[in-house]
Formats: sequence, C-alpha cells, structure tokens
Amino acid sequence: MSVLLVEDDLSIAIVITAALEAEGFCVVHCQSIAERDRLLEEGPYQALVTDVMLPDGDGIETIDRVRALHPALPIVIVSAQNTLDTAVRATDTGAFEYFPKPFDIDELARTVRQAAGAGQGTAVEGEEPLGDGLPLVGRSTAMQTVFRMITRVLRNDLTVLILGESGTGKELVAEAVHNLGHRRAGPFIAVNTAAIPAELIESELFGHEKGAFTGAVARHVGKFEQAAGGTLFLDEIGDMPMQAQTRLLRALQSGTVRRVGGREEIRLDVRIIAATNKDLEPEIAAGRFREDLYYRLNVVPILMPPLRDRRDDIDVLARHFLQHAANEGLPRRQLTSEAAELLSRQPWRGNVRELKNFIYRLALLAREDAIDPESIQSLLAAETPAMLEEDSGDIAQAVTRWLAMEKPASGTIYQAAAAAFERPLFAEVLKETGGNQLRAAQALGINRNTLRKRLSELALDPEEFVRRS
Ligand SMILES: Nc1ncnc2c1ncn2[C@@H]1O[C@H](COP(=O)(O)OP(=O)(O)OP(=O)(O)O)[C@@H](O)[C@H]1O
Ligand SMILES: [Mg+2]
Repeated sequence: MSVLLVEDDLSIAIVITAALEAEGFCVVHCQSIAERDRLLEEGPYQALVTDVMLPDGDGIETIDRVRALHPALPIVIVSAQNTLDTAVRATDTGAFEYFPKPFDIDELARTVRQAAGAGQGTAVEGEEPLGDGLPLVGRSTAMQTVFRMITRVLRNDLTVLILGESGTGKELVAEAVHNLGHRRAGPFIAVNTAAIPAELIESELFGHEKGAFTGAVARHVGKFEQAAGGTLFLDEIGDMPMQAQTRLLRALQSGTVRRVGGREEIRLDVRIIAATNKDLEPEIAAGRFREDLYYRLNVVPILMPPLRDRRDDIDVLARHFLQHAANEGLPRRQLTSEAAELLSRQPWRGNVRELKNFIYRLALLAREDAIDPESIQSLLAAETPAMLEEDSGDIAQAVTRWLAMEKPASGTIYQAAAAAFERPLFAEVLKETGGNQLRAAQALGINRNTLRKRLSELALDPEEFVRRS
C-alpha cells in the first residue's frame, strides 16, 4: 500500500515517512503541488498526506485537482497554519482528518492506516468559502484542540457544553459554532440564565400566554421559539435556578416546549449550546445542579483552558487586540518582542478579557508608537494596588509578577528573590512576637543566630516591632 506525502519541510517529511513505513506503507514523497499532480497522474495511492503551505501554492485550495483525478482518495491534512480558518477549510474539503502541527506522529500514522483502510474519502459537499477574520485567535496546542472540536460540531446539532474560567472565550466559541455551522442562516439567541430573576426564567425561555400570570398582559414568545432554525445559547447555566433546570430538562427530553399558561406543544428546532464558568461536578454533589440535565447538555464538551496554561497565545492575542484597537480609532501601536515576552509572563487571572482590556488601555496610554517593556511595566505598576486587593495568596503568581516588575540582574536573582521573600515574612513574624527574636526564630524554625544575621543583612530592626503601650 502506498501513500503520497506532500511536505516541503524535510525534517517533518522524514519523521512522517518513518512512522508510515513502520505501519507497512510505501511512502512516495514530494515537496510541491506540481510534483504532487504529476505523481497522482502516474499511479494509484491509498492515501494522500499533504501540508497546506507549499512553495507553489496552497494544498487545500488545489485539492479539487486531486479529487478530479482520484475522487475517492482519502486525504489527511497536516498544517503549521494553526488557525481556525485552516481547520475549517480542511474540514470543508471533506478531508479524512486534519492535524495541526505539532501533532502526535503515532496518531497520524494510525489515522492514515484507517483512511487507507476505509478506501474512501468521506467527501462532504463543498460549501461556500468562509471569509477571513475568524474571531477566535490562538495557536497553542490547547486552542488547536478547541478548533478541532468546533469543526466536529458544525454539521450536526449535537448539544455543546463549553466550560472554562471567566474571560476564556466561551461566548466567542458559541458564536463561532453558530456562524460557521449549518444553522448560520438562522438566529443566534443568547440567554444569560443567571441574570434573569428566578420567577421570570420560565416565561423568558418558554414564553407565556396573555393572562398566564399577573402582569402577563400580552402573549410573549420565549427564547426557544425565537431561536427556531438557529442556535440557543444558554449562558451561565451553572447558576440556573433548580426549578428552571427541571423545566429545561423536560423541554430537552421531549423536544417540545409549552408557553406558560398555554396548552399547545411547540416542536423545538434549535441547536443548544450551554456554557458555564462553574465546575459543575461539585454543584451536582451539593444538589444545586441536576445530574440528568448535566448529562443531557454535556454531549460534546469543549474545555476552554485558562490563558496562563496557553501562554503561547498571549503574543498573537495582544497583537490582534492592538490591531482591533487601531481599527476602532485608537492610536496604532506596535509591540516589541521583549514587550510581548513580558506580557506572556503575567498571570492574567481574568484571562483573555483582562488581556484585551489591558491592551486597549495600553494603546490609549502608551507614550510611544512602539510599546516596550517599560510602558507595560508602568501601566502594570499603576494597576498593582487593585491587583493586590484581589490577590489569591498564590506565591507562584506573586513571583511571576515580582520577576516581571523587578527584573533582577542575572547572577543576583536568587539573592534578590530570597530577600524579597524574607523581608515581609520576618516582619510578619516579628510583629506577632512583638519584636522578640528568640520566639520569632522558634516560630520560623530557624536558628536564632541565622535570624539575627539575616535581619541585619536585610536592614530590618527588630526594635521596630516591640509593642509599646
Ligand atoms: N481566542 C480569542 N481570540 C480573540 N478574542 C478572544 C478570544 N477569547 C476571548 N476573546 C475576547 O475576550 C473577551 C471575553 O471572551 P468571552 O466573553 O467569550 O468569555 P467568557 O468565557 O464567555 O467569559 P464569562 O465566563 O465571564 O462570560 C471577549 O471580548 C472576547 O471577544
Ligand atoms: Mg460568557
């Protein structure tokens, strides 16, 4: 069985060839689209593995030529262009599978085996090309997984549950699923289930008939009906009141809704996407979230990783937001690579939202067009009091911030960090013991002479802590 491999990066080509040969394939390798087309004319292959960016063109755009010659040839796409756009385009071609780089080589080899075994491409009718400017930015491995999950749900109505901390982009993912999916011609209706008063939630979701309750002066069409033909986005689902959860579950199970005070059963025609920043399992354990509803919603989970776990994305996101800020009329700024480095070391507890707001303020307030680490530091410093207030007490984060702000010279980092740590620590303990060094040393669990020596090195005077009444 032979596989045609189109890959201009030789180091990658070698690795893929080795893995495929280990699977028992004979690999024919070429580095351009012209060679690919020539080889395809010559012989039959059981699978095609192709890169996207090739010296003489785009491996996805020219895939029609492959299909024209071999309509059933399974195609596996590998790409370093890790954008949602590439993922979507790759899926739109009906490719057997899409692998963003870096990928697991064994998984690739297994997939090619499956593809060759299937003998058929799972060709999907080509749809109109998607425009540029897809909103979700990210090149980290974690975001590649998210992009792949998105492409998996575009052509079906499976319920999607998006989980992740506040500000990680859950709503943006929900919009992407709708805007890129087969329901994009229909409405996208978002409901923040936490923001609606508990007593109104049923009428909001399912609607009500005139006179159903005091104040129901006219018939009201609920969100489920408004979303007909499109997508209903149930945001903050973890905060939905219990009674509403029960009603929601019933609607999802029966596939119908009834307006409050109404008799007619209305068939649902919606794709449901739910999101929450709450960890639902403890909520279930505490009896605040229905387990059966959880299983109903959690058909395809998409997990949005916190920004601190995908620091690779911070640089691209920052540049993306600077561009947006400029498009919205703020001064056009550039980010130096040192500045991007500094940004990527910040904790970003508010995730992408916090980064976005910070970048907008930076665009507005920076003095120069080129944003350097100093401009970032001064803005960070100006915001530090607020940051300290909401400090979680996480030393790792404090260290990250301290390093970014203090930038101790190489060769002095340990000493400087130890001093920065010991100073407030000793001060706290001395305050506790009213300046008594012996008790302080005991509490700390260090030798009294060591403490005395360190105190004088740190220019900390225990006398200062003696309580005077
Ligand atoms: N990958 C991304 N690329 C570009 N912009 C992003 C990305 N992720 C998030 N954003 C932006 O960050 C902001 C916060 O995102 P979003 O509102 O989707 O977060 P969320 O997870 O729904 O937060 P919450 O739980 O607080 O509702 C938005 O302005 C969004 O456009
Ligand atoms: Mg949200």
